[in-house]
Amino acid sequence: MTLTVELGHRSYPVMVGEGLIRSAGARLKRLGFASPPIVVTNRTVLGLHGKELFGSLESAFGACPVITIGDGERFKNHETLIRIYNGLFRSRADRRSWVVAFGGGVVGDIAGYAAATFMRGIPYASIPTTLLAQVDSAIGGKVGLNVRQGKNLIGAFHQPSAVLSDTGLLRTMPARELAAGMFEVIKSGAIRSEPLISYLEKKLSVCMECRPAALDHVVIECARIKAEVVSGDETEEGPRMVLNYGHTVGHALEAATRYRRFRHGEAVGWGMIAAVGFGRELGLLTAREAGRLVRLIHAVEHLPSLEGVRLEDVWRALRRDKKFRGGRIRMVLLPKLGTTEILPGIDPRHLKRFLRSFLQSGGDIGI
Ligand SMILES: NC(=O)c1ccc[n+]([C@@H]2O[C@H](COP(=O)([O-])OP(=O)(O)OC[C@H]3O[C@@H](n4cnc5c(N)ncnc54)[C@H](O)[C@@H]3O)[C@@H](O)[C@H]2O)c1
Ligand SMILES: [Zn+2]
Repeated sequence: MTLTVELGHRSYPVMVGEGLIRSAGARLKRLGFASPPIVVTNRTVLGLHGKELFGSLESAFGACPVITIGDGERFKNHETLIRIYNGLFRSRADRRSWVVAFGGGVVGDIAGYAAATFMRGIPYASIPTTLLAQVDSAIGGKVGLNVRQGKNLIGAFHQPSAVLSDTGLLRTMPARELAAGMFEVIKSGAIRSEPLISYLEKKLSVCMECRPAALDHVVIECARIKAEVVSGDETEEGPRMVLNYGHTVGHALEAATRYRRFRHGEAVGWGMIAAVGFGRELGLLTAREAGRLVRLIHAVEHLPSLEGVRLEDVWRALRRDKKFRGGRIRMVLLPKLGTTEILPGIDPRHLKRFLRSFLQSGGDIGI
């Protein structure tokens, strides 16, 4: 299945399917790439799936240099960026070279940023290997890295030339990482597709077992949603904001626990539950729909507890959020499952009151 991200002046394909990696070389060649790419990956992904990827790339392009980076969020930093630049220079890369980012969101973000800045920008193709990266981070062109002052504070918009998502690769994912990606899947359904929520209500466990047909369906639907939302809003000024559903509180929970307690997706899981509860206070969503979404989120995994998370820490993080402007908060909420509304003038005191009871109850919104 091939989808297209349309950006006015240009577009790029997002291919999704089981076993795609075996034809990655031929597919990329057909898109016009001629020289061997420089592959950026980490040891984990290289060990699990490198043979298949390199088999396919090398039969299409000949020997491909590889740059391996450390595995984990803590390696999404400037040292790793310099390591990638050095690898590119060592491989004699020039303006006509191109990069393949092969890994999860960490590899995609930093390899994409290296490509965005090396010699003022060279092309890259993304071969995402985690559920989160296939449904979210690999599509849309946001690339970057973390600095001491915060996550993703340095970056660029640099669209890939192609995204190839082989859902078969997800079979080797650790359960908790798969779950973390599943919360972003639920987010996609919540904002744009009630049928996807309904599908997950029936097939969640089958998806979590990585059965190909079910997972293919889910990744295609999410890729379609993300591609639609980012098409025509390249730099996140307008409609892309709906992708932040559950992220206002989610990001604040991550920061308040110093990025140690929750995987990003898990914090978004709690963030969506908070958004459902807060939305109910504003008269949005029926109790039935709210209950469906909250039950689905809890069915993915036992979310790390909110115990001991301090309101003051959450609030401090929230105040730094770019959606917190002029004494008012802009928040994406759901009037119904599958549709969004952006509320621009939320009273911070109301949200703070809600969050106090949300944290005190351990995330129980009484549904
Ligand atoms: N650019 C965007 O629009 C965007 C959107 C959302 C998230 N992100 C970023 O994405 C990152 C998180 O991405 P992630 O959740 O993919 O984390 P990750 O890249 O750290 O991958 C999670 C773990 O899974 C391993 N892994 C990868 N593929 C595997 C496979 N097929 N089998 C087994 N293990 C595998 C990785 O080595 C890693 O240990 C964060 O840095 C976040 O900021 C970016
Ligand atoms: Zn997210």
